[in-house]
Amino acid sequence: MKAIVYTEYGSPDVLHIEERTKPAPKDNEILIRNHATTVNFGDLMGRNFKAISPRKFNMPLFFWLPARLAFGFSKPRNPVLGSEFAGEVEAVGKAVTRFKPGDQVFGYLGQSMGAYAEYFCMPENGVVAIKPANLTYEEAAVLPYGAIMALSLLRKANIQPGQKVLINGASGGIGSAAVQIARHLGAEVIGVCGTPGLNLVKSLGAVKVIDYTKEDFTQNGETYDVIFDILGRSSFSRSQNSLNQNGRYLLASFKTTQLLQMLWTSMTGSKKVICAIAPGSLEDLISVNELIEEGKIKAVIDRCYLMEQAAEAHRYVEEGHKKGNVVITLTSKLISNSPGNPAVFGL
Ligand SMILES: NC(=O)c1ccc[n+]([C@@H]2O[C@H](COP(=O)([O-])OP(=O)(O)OC[C@H]3O[C@@H](n4cnc5c(N)ncnc54)[C@H](OP(=O)(O)O)[C@@H]3O)[C@@H](O)[C@H]2O)c1
Repeated sequence: MKAIVYTEYGSPDVLHIEERTKPAPKDNEILIRNHATTVNFGDLMGRNFKAISPRKFNMPLFFWLPARLAFGFSKPRNPVLGSEFAGEVEAVGKAVTRFKPGDQVFGYLGQSMGAYAEYFCMPENGVVAIKPANLTYEEAAVLPYGAIMALSLLRKANIQPGQKVLINGASGGIGSAAVQIARHLGAEVIGVCGTPGLNLVKSLGAVKVIDYTKEDFTQNGETYDVIFDILGRSSFSRSQNSLNQNGRYLLASFKTTQLLQMLWTSMTGSKKVICAIAPGSLEDLISVNELIEEGKIKAVIDRCYLMEQAAEAHRYVEEGHKKGNVVITLTSKLISNSPGNPAVFGL
């Protein structure tokens, strides 16, 4: 089988195609013929963790060493990246009861990665579920990361119908799902992103979209019940006046300072900082699956690349302005669209 492999940290050029032995499932595992995977934040970080110094790391310092050890200190421990997938179960281990050969599935491998391969095995009780029938493999592959993260993190803010929710970073992988999920929860959603993403975010259900290149949301006099900052580009001190009484300032990227703010605001004042990590669980994937089937969340795909174009796909995502998600298709031809021809499916 073919896999996109990297054996040293570095630029997108470290990614190359290699022939590898097709794995066989253990008793509790399923073998997946993978059709589509993605390039997201974790893949970029894993590909070049050597370049991420403790200062550049966008999590508290004490997570840096465990993360570096998990990815591999001087070279990658796992040569195959890829956390999201959609494919077909080809074989199952003797003890497997949830799946059978032929089932179409999608899911999330998290930091253990391995989805940049035509085949891989995973435990049947991992973050994997039957793919919604109304989605293509590409569409299904882009939903686990963004939607699981968005759902899990937004739960921490306890959004109530009618509340005003601002999502800073609304056109990205997590943001595009967060806009849809917050709206499904009955919130009035205001998105923040750069100029190219404005129409996309509006089409996902935001009542208003602020272009961060033209306007600072902390300075326009508007207030919100929840501010969800995905990249952590704002700050609590600047955003406080934009929060209503009992407002929550929710962060997906945070440092030790914000953790201390969370501790402090949990004891004093009515406006709270919430720093949260979403590890990704099967329960969350099942909830995402239900939202997809109810038509509440749609896949947002910016570009699709062939597996031979993995380096190009990484280069594009590394520019930092993808809209929604970028797919790598592991079948031999592009089913949906070609690189350079951005498309948003499901809208
Ligand atoms: N807490 C957790 O469990 C968890 C899990 C996974 C990831 N994360 C965090 O999530 C982040 C990645 O999110 P993602 O995958 O959604 O990223 P992404 O797809 O790259 O999207 C980034 C978004 O941020 C916007 N943006 C860029 N610069 C901005 C600025 N100065 N002000 C406001 N918005 C700006 C982008 O808009 P334009 O493209 O228009 O610039 C885009 O909407 C990482 O920082 C990672 O640490 C957290």
